[in-house]
Amino acid sequence: MKRLAVVTGASRGWGRALVDEFSDSGWIVIAMSRSKAGPLNWNSPGIVETVVHDVRNEDFQELHTVIGERPVDLLINNAAQGAKHQQLGSISTLGVMDAVDVNVGGPLRLVQALLPNLLAASDPLVINVTSRLGSVSAQARGDFSGLSTSYAYKISKAAQNMLTISLAQDLQGKVRAWAVHPGKLATGMGQPDASKHPALAARQLRELVDSGDSTSPRFCSLGDEDLGW
Ligand SMILES: NC(=O)c1ccc[n+]([C@@H]2O[C@H](COP(=O)([O-])OP(=O)(O)OC[C@H]3O[C@@H](n4cnc5c(N)ncnc54)[C@H](OP(=O)(O)O)[C@@H]3O)[C@@H](O)[C@H]2O)c1
Repeated sequence: MKRLAVVTGASRGWGRALVDEFSDSGWIVIAMSRSKAGPLNWNSPGIVETVVHDVRNEDFQELHTVIGERPVDLLINNAAQGAKHQQLGSISTLGVMDAVDVNVGGPLRLVQALLPNLLAASDPLVINVTSRLGSVSAQARGDFSGLSTSYAYKISKAAQNMLTISLAQDLQGKVRAWAVHPGKLATGMGQPDASKHPALAARQLRELVDSGDSTSPRFCSLGDEDLGW
């Protein structure tokens, strides 16, 4: 039986590459995008199924209608909100909370909505797409002090990492949970010097998933050594 993956943020960037990689590799993919505009044009009926959903939304009617009671083998919480660096005095706390809503609340809501489907799968895995910038230990060492990144992004990705740990511990033995840093991708959210092709990172993630590693929680950096939390 084909395995089933759910991918959020499928409209562009890495999400779109993930949908292509997993569907080309024999998976059925539920591609979730927040708007109907443009990207929902995969011509693969029965292989790529599309759902319109904003991850800030708690209404999962369309997702549930499309998935029904099918087991979900893999949930990739990829959708995220970036934020530009600002001087301390200009930072909007509402902007920080908004990033937390999308980058932490979004994955949590998806896991809650799909928990029965995940538990129905034989070896389910939740992947929260994070960033090395969310590593509290690396940030505390000053590893990225030369980068201009926003409070909103760093805070929300660090909190998302704690969500991953919490899920892994709560669901130990039932659902694995990984935080995955994809590398510096040449996408809308990438740094100016980012050059890694999203298709390469998607293949690396698919191979990692196929490795069947039972470690949970895990903080992976694709093509590199695991990161410290
Ligand atoms: N690019 C990098 O170098 C890099 C490095 C480390 C980690 N990451 C992580 O990799 C993931 C993918 O990023 P990317 O580089 O592909 O960024 P991207 O090209 O900017 O794509 C972001 C995606 O998230 C979606 N999204 C944003 N807010 C949403 C919401 N409220 N509801 C539903 N979808 C929403 C966007 O949808 P719309 O098209 O509707 O806006 C888009 O599909 C993110 O989690 C990011 O933090 C990226």
